[in-house]
Amino acid sequence: MFTLSGVRSSKLTLAALLVSGLAAFSGCGEKKDAGAPAGGNTGGSAANTPAPETPAPEGASFKLGHYASLTGSEATFGVSTDNGIKLAVEEQNAAGGVKGKKVELITYDNQGKPQESVTAVTRLIQQDKVLAVLGEVASSRSLAGGPVCQRLGVPMISPSSTNPDVTAVGDMISRVCFIDPFQGYVGAKFVAENLKKIKGATLYNRAQAYSSGLNTNFKEAFAKLGGSVISEQAYSDGDNDFSAQLSAIKAAGAEFIYVPGYYTEVVNIAKQARKLGLNLPLVGGDGWDSEELKNAGDALNGCYFSNHYSHEDPRPEVQEFVKKYQAKYGKVPDGLAALGYDAAKILFDAAARAPSMSGKDLAAAINATKDYQAITGKITIDANRNAQKDAVVLEVVNGVPKYAATIPAPKN
Ligand code: PHE
Repeated sequence: MFTLSGVRSSKLTLAALLVSGLAAFSGCGEKKDAGAPAGGNTGGSAANTPAPETPAPEGASFKLGHYASLTGSEATFGVSTDNGIKLAVEEQNAAGGVKGKKVELITYDNQGKPQESVTAVTRLIQQDKVLAVLGEVASSRSLAGGPVCQRLGVPMISPSSTNPDVTAVGDMISRVCFIDPFQGYVGAKFVAENLKKIKGATLYNRAQAYSSGLNTNFKEAFAKLGGSVISEQAYSDGDNDFSAQLSAIKAAGAEFIYVPGYYTEVVNIAKQARKLGLNLPLVGGDGWDSEELKNAGDALNGCYFSNHYSHEDPRPEVQEFVKKYQAKYGKVPDGLAALGYDAAKILFDAAARAPSMSGKDLAAAINATKDYQAITGKITIDANRNAQKDAVVLEVVNGVPKYAATIPAPKN
């Protein structure tokens, strides 16, 4: 029953989105499906490929591309991020645009698939001639889209992909969030010091770069804090029966389970764990961040996840953002919405400083971002084109995240 209502509500979200996409056609947003694969070899690795010189295209508007999972099992990631970006675009246009040009946002749905991400990014750059790309949320999709941006010399800012490899692709690729070696440490520290548990299990998605990387980062950090992982279990994309893994965890006598996955699986894992009588805390990372956690009912009560932001943060800029977002979309912004908003703002700030709109100049200006006061914290793009920021830990209370703790960024 919970699953059914979850499916229905995501369909409703999609229907509402399509309508709002049409309505926004004359405004700042345009939504399209990435569609059939584009011709040519657009995939593959572009690690450290030097980006070509791209002249600044002449155009009446500042074209901005976004590729996102607007549908599929991570649909709330894409929709929230796009909402955050649209809000930033609207504000920018109200304030005169970028260097006098109106910002035009073009968003493509990649259905949560890496290959569709390659298609979407290629189309944004080659057909729509965007000056910059925002995306993706999921690291595996940023790892697919990033090399295309690098090879074609167009800057990409990931709002929220935390796997370290995402920005290693080259100088065109940056992000406005922290990375997973830190996030793994945050989870481990919270478990060891706040929950005071030292013996646990992990259950991760071996098919996702984010999940398997964060699993390793957590284990390493937890061992350094004196803890041990006594059962390590894995699943794959699309799996929905976790009873074998959960039974093994139960037999091992774990005190908690670290679940570095995405919300759709987390909801299923929590419900199935309770059914098996496993009443231990689940702890996870930012991939839990979704309004759909509500579909777990009370199965996630007493569970925690690390994240980039809390809507309860009393900083005035956060509260103002929450108010504006609520007025526009009728709900509280999650971390994805805040990061989408921040990524767009950082891009506009960089564009205003850049000597030209060429890919090289724009990327250099983005990479020179320093102490930008954003919703998710103060952003400086470091030498590896990552941001170092504090993390928060949120407690799930009847499907709604509540602020629990702040874990500060490492000092260097
Ligand atoms: N960090 C996740 C990844 O890299 C994506 C994510 C970020 C999901 C923030 C939810 C919130 O795949």
